[in-house]
Amino acid sequence: MVTAQAPSILIVDDTPNNIRVLFDILDRAGFNLAVVKSGEMALEKLPLIQPDLILLDIMMPGMDGFETCRRLKADPTSKDIPIIFMTVLSDLESKVKGLQMGAVDYITKPIQVEEVMARVNVHLALRTAQIQLMNEVSERRQAEERLKQTLQELQKTQTQLIQSEKMSALGQLVAGVAHEINNPVNFIGGNLSHAREYTQDLLNLVQLYEEHYPQPVPEVLAEIEAMEWDFLREDLPKLINSMQVGVDRLQQILLSLRIFSRTDETEMKLADLHQGLDSTLMILGYRLKAHSERPAIDIIKKYGNLPLVECYSGQLNQVFMNILSNAIDGLEQAIHSHKKFAPAITIQTEAVEGDRVAIRIIDNGWGIPPEVQKRIFEPFFTTKPVDKGTGLGLAISYQIVAEKHQGSLQCVSELGQGSEFAILIPLQQG
Ligand SMILES: Nc1ncnc2c1ncn2[C@@H]1O[C@H](COP(=O)(O)OP(=O)(O)OP(=O)(O)O)[C@@H](O)[C@H]1O
Ligand SMILES: [Mg+2]
Repeated sequence: MVTAQAPSILIVDDTPNNIRVLFDILDRAGFNLAVVKSGEMALEKLPLIQPDLILLDIMMPGMDGFETCRRLKADPTSKDIPIIFMTVLSDLESKVKGLQMGAVDYITKPIQVEEVMARVNVHLALRTAQIQLMNEVSERRQAEERLKQTLQELQKTQTQLIQSEKMSALGQLVAGVAHEINNPVNFIGGNLSHAREYTQDLLNLVQLYEEHYPQPVPEVLAEIEAMEWDFLREDLPKLINSMQVGVDRLQQILLSLRIFSRTDETEMKLADLHQGLDSTLMILGYRLKAHSERPAIDIIKKYGNLPLVECYSGQLNQVFMNILSNAIDGLEQAIHSHKKFAPAITIQTEAVEGDRVAIRIIDNGWGIPPEVQKRIFEPFFTTKPVDKGTGLGLAISYQIVAEKHQGSLQCVSELGQGSEFAILIPLQQG
């Protein structure tokens, strides 16, 4: 019985007798049948018929069966349809050639009912199984793809979470310390100017005494000598001046800490990126200084003329911090493995193309090997020992620059020469 789901077979043959016999056998078996009389017609009608199987005669006028087969196999839309050749019993050469060209089987003429049915049924069953398998494979592939995407999403969320935790922990600590130190520092700073004034008054008073009583009693004279009065009079104002320098420096540091720890920014504000860079450098100052194992790391500032940039400045400071820390790590590593050089980090800024700013942080360490370079922005990728690196610095920086600020973060590095990280940020968002 012919049903809508019955497999369809295309018969390609020019001999009326053959067609009749085949038609009878296959029609009785309930298949959907289509007949064409040439290879050309077969190719033309194929998209309409979309058969599950093709019975193809070899000897036909015009395009023969081999050529028809070659073309069917060359077309991606028909290459998977099984083709059974029809050839005379004795023609071994044609059978071999047909199979070589991609046919799945052959039927010998004169046509035998049992042979036709056996071969057609086998290949239709195989075809059904093949289609099922292909569907399953493609479903599995889709599932895998979905899984991969979900995993990537998860990693991204994790990175963001860790980033915000890291940021707020560091930011809160810095802000807390800054707050605690702020009052005592202001207290010292405020009193220092009075102390300077009072000291000056006292010194003036002593001077007056000296002028009016040039001959002090022996007891006073002994005390003047014991306390090294001449030295004290010279040194006291200097001492107060250097205390003032110290307090000024402390107040500068506090300002930097406050600029660095702007963790509560909920909206973008116009910011001076040089201020951000300087406050970050200040915080990293202790890592730049010389120590027993290496000389100081030189900071070469090549600041251009930057307009204010609309941004989350606290987050950008975090990016500067991550990239500068990596550069310092890289330089220390290079010194450790005996590179002979004067370690330096160059910070270059410029306005580009009228609507963007570029900040380049360049070190003269070993550089990053290409296989590492490919992975540096991956979350959790690190070449450092477990207790030294989490592998999140650059992943976080990338997110902040690319996603939060619609900018770009690129790394250029040549082995032996050093590394450059270029941050590009639009002046305005949206
Ligand atoms: N300036 C640099 N010189 C040499 N290697 C670098 C430099 N910057 C980054 N790298 C390489 O990129 C890797 C990833 O850097 P990333 O900042 O993401 O993680 P990390 O520094 O290892 O860990 P952390 O999360 O503590 O920052 C580093 O482990 C290092 O191998
Ligand atoms: Mg890092």
